[in-house]
Amino acid sequence: MKKIAVFTSGGDSPGMNACIRAVVRTGLKLDLEVIGIKRGFEGMIDGEFINLDRRSVSGIMNRGGTILHSARSDRFRTEEGRKMAFQQLQKEGIEGIVAIGGDGTFTGADIFTKEFDIPFVGTPGTIDNDLYGTDFTIGYDTAINTAMRAIDKIKDTANAHHRLFFVEVMGRDAGFIALRSGIATGAEAVLIPESKTDTESLIRILELNEQNRKRANIVVVAEGDEEGGAFKIAETVKERFPYFETKVTILGHIQRGGAPTCMERVMASRMGMEAVKALLDGKRSVMVGQVHKDIVFTPFEKAIKHHEKVNPVLLDMVEMLA
Ligand code: F6P
Repeated sequence: MKKIAVFTSGGDSPGMNACIRAVVRTGLKLDLEVIGIKRGFEGMIDGEFINLDRRSVSGIMNRGGTILHSARSDRFRTEEGRKMAFQQLQKEGIEGIVAIGGDGTFTGADIFTKEFDIPFVGTPGTIDNDLYGTDFTIGYDTAINTAMRAIDKIKDTANAHHRLFFVEVMGRDAGFIALRSGIATGAEAVLIPESKTDTESLIRILELNEQNRKRANIVVVAEGDEEGGAFKIAETVKERFPYFETKVTILGHIQRGGAPTCMERVMASRMGMEAVKALLDGKRSVMVGQVHKDIVFTPFEKAIKHHEKVNPVLLDMVEMLA
């Protein structure tokens, strides 16, 4: 293998740049030519390729977003789109690819490698932490710290005004961001899709807090919670507490941006380096993950379909410590 490519796809996440840098620097050290594909699968279809040398990835480690840009590609879902992508890769002489992304990225890569003979190795780039085969995904640590800091600030106002806040965090259909940021901010409750939301018990907790004259009440809601998001739950609770001042804050995309944490930079760099080595070792259609302190490889198909269960101890902690 003489020429590899790297791209980022799906929702951007902090740490993607550190991973790109590691892929480029490792590739060059191992005498490979490294190409960057812009805008994920979209750029692959359109042949948006750039040469990446050592200097092109200088000073990017501390930057959020992705220097290669990202996209969600509908065209890549079609056979015609994937065929065009293959032709572009062949024309460019690309022999192996590092894909930095999440669920959708690995689904696309998996289909593609079954149709065409180009090996892909993935690194888990998503704030959601919803992939099997790694303790943490690239972007998750930064996102939970961003959410935690935002909720801390909201708590100041909740306390000053004696208000009940419902704070909605991202995570698609997973509750990992909600759970960790909720524990770290001492939330009254955390509502996540992995556990049944019991509005009655939430109301009992809030009633008890009211009796105990607790001033700041925070409920963290995962956007994928089956009860339908923070606004809907707030509405239901408000009917039972008409005297209580209830507010809703949706944290939204601030959770995706910003400088990656130290943990993130180190983990992303390691995964990027291991991905290149794995390509050279002949691995294909696998995601690089870190479990405990070790690097492990999980087939795409397994990584996307079986994300880790939430730790029940963490759920208990919310109740015990609130
Ligand atoms: O997968 C990352 C994520 O930020 C999810 O948490 C969220 O549901 C989704 O992407 C939002 O995607 P978009 O930015 O395309 O609206």
